[in-house]
Amino acid sequence: MRLMLIGIAVSCCVIGSDAQLKCEKSPFGKVGDKNVYLYTLTNKNGIVLKVTNYGGIVTSLMLPDRKGAMGDVTLGYNDVDSYVKNTPYFGAIIGRYGNRIGKGKFTLDGKEYTLQVNNGQNTLHGGIKGFDKVVWDAKEVKSKGAAGVEFTYISKDGEEGYPGTLQAKVVYWLTDDNTWKIEYTATTDKPTVVNLTNHAYWNLAGAGSDILGHELTIYADKYTPVDEGLIPTGVLPSVEGTPMDFRKSTAIGARINQDFEQLIFGKGYDHNWVLNQKKPGEMSLAATLYDPKSGRVVEISTQEPSIQFYSGNFLDGTITGKNGTVYKHRTGLCLETQHFPDSPNKANFPSTVLKPGETYKTVTVHKFSVK
Ligand code: GLA
Repeated sequence: MRLMLIGIAVSCCVIGSDAQLKCEKSPFGKVGDKNVYLYTLTNKNGIVLKVTNYGGIVTSLMLPDRKGAMGDVTLGYNDVDSYVKNTPYFGAIIGRYGNRIGKGKFTLDGKEYTLQVNNGQNTLHGGIKGFDKVVWDAKEVKSKGAAGVEFTYISKDGEEGYPGTLQAKVVYWLTDDNTWKIEYTATTDKPTVVNLTNHAYWNLAGAGSDILGHELTIYADKYTPVDEGLIPTGVLPSVEGTPMDFRKSTAIGARINQDFEQLIFGKGYDHNWVLNQKKPGEMSLAATLYDPKSGRVVEISTQEPSIQFYSGNFLDGTITGKNGTVYKHRTGLCLETQHFPDSPNKANFPSTVLKPGETYKTVTVHKFSVK
């Protein structure tokens, strides 16, 4: 499968024959007293990635299907006010700690920290005002064959309960070889915990239909079972013989309703898979998502040790997004590269601690193609 995909890089010359690698900046309204902007990145093949400095949100990604027809493959809104009012983290940068921290508490160097709790008893995606809800400083950046936007944000010591001033930098690159690359960096002035990710909602068929026919591969032999609050129990069982086994490309809908953990709330997958990485921090394949209808493929590689696959369980038709599309149950899915949820409270999980003098650095790449 992997070899095939590499061989069939998107040749979207049909659409983008006169396209050129570029980044255009335009006003996107105001959040509080801060101006926000929309950055439109286009590559030479006509792929268009739109991002804003409010939450570092990807508002749209236009990809060709196997016939060359362009379609927007991410969920979101047309305007910034809608993101401010109500968003299930559409397309945003997630921090300071992506995913959950049990009971909103952890102990570091003998001191207990209490975070803002926003998900039952737990802290989810950084707390009440996470990195998805702040205005980032942004500037356009360029490198050979790539156009990008660099976002920076200084999270104050004590923000949402986390210790240390965190200087965070996230760069989104759109490359001429059809990738969206994300580079995350952070430094701190006191020991803290960090786990940054992006919360893009994918629907490779274009929004509207459900994602149950999408075929997914997750390069993971193990996963982290959770309790009723979606906090990992700490054990790392094999996926073998369970609906969590995505080692071979499988339709998302094939086993989603089977009586297993993914139905813990009767809604679908919302779990963390432990990637088959050879060495910690080594760039490796995490997941491949393929939509047989359109032929669109997204292949995700990362330096992170795991990935959260969330099947849009909490989408319930109450949100009307871009172009009037109603986002119903399971009409978008997220693949969030990350460290394991609740790592600050699990000694056997890879550490998320960042100390002064160290630099948190991690890269995730999304490669687009058709087959
Ligand atoms: C993550 C979580 C889910 C849910 C979504 C947003 O993926 O794991 O439980 O909170 O974000 O709705």
